[in-house]
Amino acid sequence: MKASAVACANQGLVKYWGKTDERLRLPTNDSISVCLDGLTTHTTVEFGRAHARDEFVLNGRPSPDPRIPRHLDLIRSLAHSELRARVESRNGFPASVGMASSASGFAALTVAATAAAGMHPDPKELSRIARRGSGSASRSIPGGFAELRAGRDDERTYAARLAGPDDLDFRTLIASVATTPKKVGSSEGMRITSETSPMFASRMSYLPGALTRMKEALRSRDPAKVAHLAEIDTLSMHACMLTSDPPLIYWTGGTIDVIREVIALREAGRRAFFSIDAGQNVFVNCPAVDAEPVRERLASLRSVTSVLLSRPGGPAKLVEEHLF
Ligand code: PMV
Repeated sequence: MKASAVACANQGLVKYWGKTDERLRLPTNDSISVCLDGLTTHTTVEFGRAHARDEFVLNGRPSPDPRIPRHLDLIRSLAHSELRARVESRNGFPASVGMASSASGFAALTVAATAAAGMHPDPKELSRIARRGSGSASRSIPGGFAELRAGRDDERTYAARLAGPDDLDFRTLIASVATTPKKVGSSEGMRITSETSPMFASRMSYLPGALTRMKEALRSRDPAKVAHLAEIDTLSMHACMLTSDPPLIYWTGGTIDVIREVIALREAGRRAFFSIDAGQNVFVNCPAVDAEPVRERLASLRSVTSVLLSRPGGPAKLVEEHLF
C-alpha cells in the first residue's frame, strides 16, 4: 500500500536538550515549539513484496541514512508486517536554507508509513512514534504551538497543541548563514551537555518557570512576549552547550552578526528576538507587523545567505499527491 504525507519543521520556543532514555528518546524536560510553514517535507511510502529491501530517496538522490530503516522497523513491528518499503522525500525549501529537517522528515515519514502499513493511529500515538525518530518530530504532528511533555515512559511522552497556527500574529524569519556541516549531532550533544555542563542543573531549575511564562504568553496571544521568552531560553540552552566539555559551539561569525543586528533593530524600536536551535542559523521571531522591515535588514547583512519568512504551520497530514 502507498501513502503520502506533508509535515512542517518546528522551532523550539522553550527547547529540550537532554534525554532520560536514549533508546526511547524520552526528553529530560517539557518543551514548547512553533511549526514553521516555510519548512515542509513531503514523503511517500510504499510497502510491498516488490521491494527486496528498504530504499530511501531524498530530494531525488538515494540516501543511506540508517535512521530511516530503523524507523520503518519500529512501524513494521507495530503493524506486524515484514514488508520492505520504498520511501521518497522532498523538502519544500531550498537546500541553501541549511536547515536540518529531522522534525518535518520524521513527522511526514511517520504519518505516511503508518497509513501505508494499514494502521490507524490517533494523533497521540503518531506523536509518540514520531518522537522515536527525532524528539522534536513529535511536536510537528499536532502543528501550531505544541508542547511535548516529558513523561516517564513511552506511553506518556507525546506532544499536544497549546494554540493553533492562526491564534497569534507570529512570524519567523529564518536567516541562513554560510553552512558548515555540524560536527556533533543532537543526540551526542545532549549527552555531553547533561553529563558535563555545570550550568545544566541551573537550567533544569529555571525551566518550570520558563514553561509557565511561555504558556501564559501563548494564552494571552502575545507574539512579542513569546518571541522574547524564546530568546531568553535560547541563551539558557546555549550557555549549557558552551560550558560542556568538550564545548559545543554551534554558532559561527554569521550567527553573531545576526544576533547583533537583532539587538540593533530592537534599539531602533522593532520587536524582533533571536532564537537558535543546535546549529548556526538564526530564527528571528516577531509580531507580523514587524516582519517586513526586519526581513529587509537581515537580508542586507553580508553574512546572511537567505532569509525565509515563515508563518506558524499546521499539523502533519496525509495528502493525495504521491511522489512516485
Ligand atoms: O529533534 P532532536 O531530537 O534532534 O532535538 C533537537 C533539539 C533542539 O532543536 C536543539 C531544541 C528543540 O527543542 O527543538
